Amino acid sequence: MIINSNVITIALFLTTSVLALPSSSSLIITHNDKKVVIENSLITLPFARRLNTTRLRGGNLLKNDLARAKHFKTRTATRKSKEGLEKRKTSALSAAIGVPATNQAVDYVLTVGVGSPVTNYSLLVDTGSSNTWVGAHTLYRRTSTSAATVNAVFVEYGSGFFFGQEFTDRVTLAPGLVIEDQSIGVTTPASAFGFDGVDGIIGIGPQDLTCGTLTPQVDECIPTVTDNAFSQNLISSDLVGISFQPATSTSDTNGELTFGGTDSSKFTGDITFVPITSTSPASEFVGLDQSITYGSANTPILATTAGIMDTGTTLLMIATDAFQAYQTATGAVPDSNTGLLTVTADQFAALESLFFTIGDTTFEFTPNAQLWPRALNTAIGGTTDGLYLIVNDIGSASGEGLDFIDGMAFLERFYTVYDTAGSRFGIATTSFTDAETN
Ligand SMILES: *[C@@H]1O[C@H](CO)[C@@H](O)[C@H](O)[C@H]1NC(C)=O
Ligand SMILES: *[C@@H]1O[C@H](CO)[C@@H](O)[C@H](O)[C@H]1NC(C)=O
Repeated sequence: MIINSNVITIALFLTTSVLALPSSSSLIITHNDKKVVIENSLITLPFARRLNTTRLRGGNLLKNDLARAKHFKTRTATRKSKEGLEKRKTSALSAAIGVPATNQAVDYVLTVGVGSPVTNYSLLVDTGSSNTWVGAHTLYRRTSTSAATVNAVFVEYGSGFFFGQEFTDRVTLAPGLVIEDQSIGVTTPASAFGFDGVDGIIGIGPQDLTCGTLTPQVDECIPTVTDNAFSQNLISSDLVGISFQPATSTSDTNGELTFGGTDSSKFTGDITFVPITSTSPASEFVGLDQSITYGSANTPILATTAGIMDTGTTLLMIATDAFQAYQTATGAVPDSNTGLLTVTADQFAALESLFFTIGDTTFEFTPNAQLWPRALNTAIGGTTDGLYLIVNDIGSASGEGLDFIDGMAFLERFYTVYDTAGSRFGIATTSFTDAETN
């Protein structure tokens, strides 16, 4: 057990005996015959947002998000079908021949060390998947901590896939967060499709998403880095806190992951926690129930329904009927150059907030938050003075169990928590919720 609160620390001192003082930030004691580690500081990892201006043009931003949304909805059916991994791999490969890979246009990357001595890899931070893997760009370097397993691994994503071999290795997320025997996928540049410019993924979604990705041990599931950090007593809770800030340049280190706790310096007020939704397929991801209304008249956009939060999606994606209601309410029209909705200056001046109700709390999403950052207009093929909106169409009607994706454009206005152990999602306002950044 690890306890992360100074208040509890004091209480425990009265009833327990101190065993060791391994470092200034943690303390191992016994309490009721259990080993207790107390940490005074949270482990927070900065991560960077990178926009690839080559890939952003020609509506690719939307195409990537749509491909991902479609994958989220179909993967359940695929996984449960009788089709074996080998057959899925073969069909993914043949589908990839001659088709340009649709790489992510916006990457959120964390530097992760693997092995001893470490090789550093730039990995996409993904709550929408849970396998961690390397080798798409920088080659995997085996060291004394690397051990091959009997398994091959194959994972499909909306905008790409990879295959390779499963290893276990030491994974260093931070000096105080070194995970032993983490199961990782190892690929090569020739066996990873859709991942130019990154080395792989650190998957921090639910462990169930890894089930069925290995062969021959198809019934195996893979504990995520969060799960292992928790079971190895490196963090106090099996959860991740995620902080982003709105960004207006093509490369910013404006994100922060906190493993094992929440960083109270990154949010304002209380965190609203809600159970992971029970509606499938959103329930397989970091899924939640939420409703959306528009403006002071409470115009319904999306009645309470299930969807997901996803750090691998850029836009705020809502079901087609909700998207139409949003267009009607705002007067926005599709822009063919960017794939986004656009409004006139007068319409923007009249634009009202969206209101997201999650649990008992309503979160305001301001007109400014609904706007694509103007400094990045030309990067997506828009005009300098254009007004583009980050709300878009998920590509199917509501009622399918995954009716919205709260992507990065939404997440950068809030602090969010994925609590694996508690099977719940948390959200709080931040100093950027109402900020006029665009
Ligand atoms: C790996 O990255 C960490 C964190 O950025 C850095 O401190 C370390 O020196 C790097 N190691 C190597 C071998 O590049
Ligand atoms: C940007 O995307 C292009 C096209 O996919 C790719 O060739 C290039 O390596 C990417 N650049 C970075 C920095 O990821």
